[in-house]
Formats: sequence, C-alpha cells, structure tokens
Amino acid sequence: MSNSDQKKQAVARAAIEYVEYDDIVGVGTGSTVDYFIEYLKPLKNKISGAVASSISTQEKLEANGIRVLDLNDVSDIPIYIDGADEVNPNLQLIKGGGGALTREKIIAGASNKFLCIVDESKVVDVLGKFPLPIEILPMARSFVAREIIKNKGMPVWRENFITDNGNLILDINHMDIIEPIKLEKDLNQIPGILTVGLFAERPADKVLVSNEKEVVELKKAN
Ligand code: 5RP
Repeated sequence: MSNSDQKKQAVARAAIEYVEYDDIVGVGTGSTVDYFIEYLKPLKNKISGAVASSISTQEKLEANGIRVLDLNDVSDIPIYIDGADEVNPNLQLIKGGGGALTREKIIAGASNKFLCIVDESKVVDVLGKFPLPIEILPMARSFVAREIIKNKGMPVWRENFITDNGNLILDINHMDIIEPIKLEKDLNQIPGILTVGLFAERPADKVLVSNEKEVVELKKAN
C-alpha cells in the first residue's frame, strides 16, 4: 500500500470514533471514504443506517451490508463524514474531485456535524491550487465558461464525465481564492451552475489530518 493510502486509511480509522450508537451516518465519496466504509462495516448493526453522497458510495455501502436510507426519509443526520481536495485554516474546503459535489453539499447541509478526513497533502493556506469543480447543466456549458473567463477564471470541461445527476463538470484552474464565501456566492449567481465545489459558507466543523506519524485535528484559525 502506498504511503498516501496508508494516511487515508489511518484518518478513516480515526473517524470511526465519532460515530455513535444508533446514528444515521452521512457518507461522502472518494478513496479516503472508501476506507471509512470498510471500518463502518463492523458497526452495521449498531448504526441506524447511512445516507450516501453518490451512487458509487451507495453501492459500496450496500456491498458491505450497510443499510442505505433515502435523504427524504430522514429528518436528522448527526454526522457527515467525507474527504476533501483542499482544506484551509478556516476549515473551508474544495470538493468535487470525484464529481460528487452536489449530493455531498446537500448532505453536508442536512447534517448536524461535518467531519472532514484528509491526509496532510490536502492542507493549504489559500484554496485554489486544486482546480475548483462546478457542476453545470449541459445546455449552459459554453455560457458558464464565458462568464467564468470574464471573472478571471480558467474553466476546463471535464470531458467524458457525467455526474450522478446527469450534468457536466467544469474545473476552474488558476485561482487564488482569497475570499471563499464571496466567490461561492458570486458563482452561485451564474445561471446554469448547479453547485460550486467550495464549501465555505458551510465549512467542515472538524477536520482530521493524517501525517506520517499520527492523526491530528486541524487547528482552526482565530
Ligand atoms: C468527491 C470529493 C472527495 O471528497 C475528494 O475528491 C477527495 O477524494 P479522495 O479521498 O479520493 O482524495 O469531493 O467529489
């Protein structure tokens, strides 16, 4: 197993401590979460079920015998556990590298607590080195791309990729995201954008980071 995988596995294992008896657990998407699902498997009869942020996560949960609930049938999700592509000191995130940002944002918004699990390579001072994913309606692709260029972003169409919701992804390159909340709000104003992969207005509540030696909690900036 690669060093990076070992770190993902370690932080996924640490996240299990935050799952409580009878919880409905929101489950994110990605390779870090895949390890979390493995650790969740032995708890399948202790939790009430899971809400999945993608079809791929749903399939993995079901393959491990974990009951998957529809978000519409659930009124309270005590905890949402998911990875990220970048994390800043305010616990704001870039997400969507795996293209699941819309359902991830919905479940993060619907959950009481969002626990983000990353390895140390994801921690940055300023968001934006990782291209910012946005999910767009197919008919709006060229229009949205032009609007983003006007705002000094460099959009790249993620070709041959369709989201679980039947939409497209543009990845916005070369951005120093100094004001994440403002950028999230501004992009949300462009017609045709369904979801912006910035989790700034609703950041994580806690971020666990694995390094070579241990898993630590990311200290939040004042
Ligand atoms: C998927 C995501 C993932 O959380 C993000 O891409 C991190 O993935 P990984 O754990 O594989 O590094 O946002 O849409």
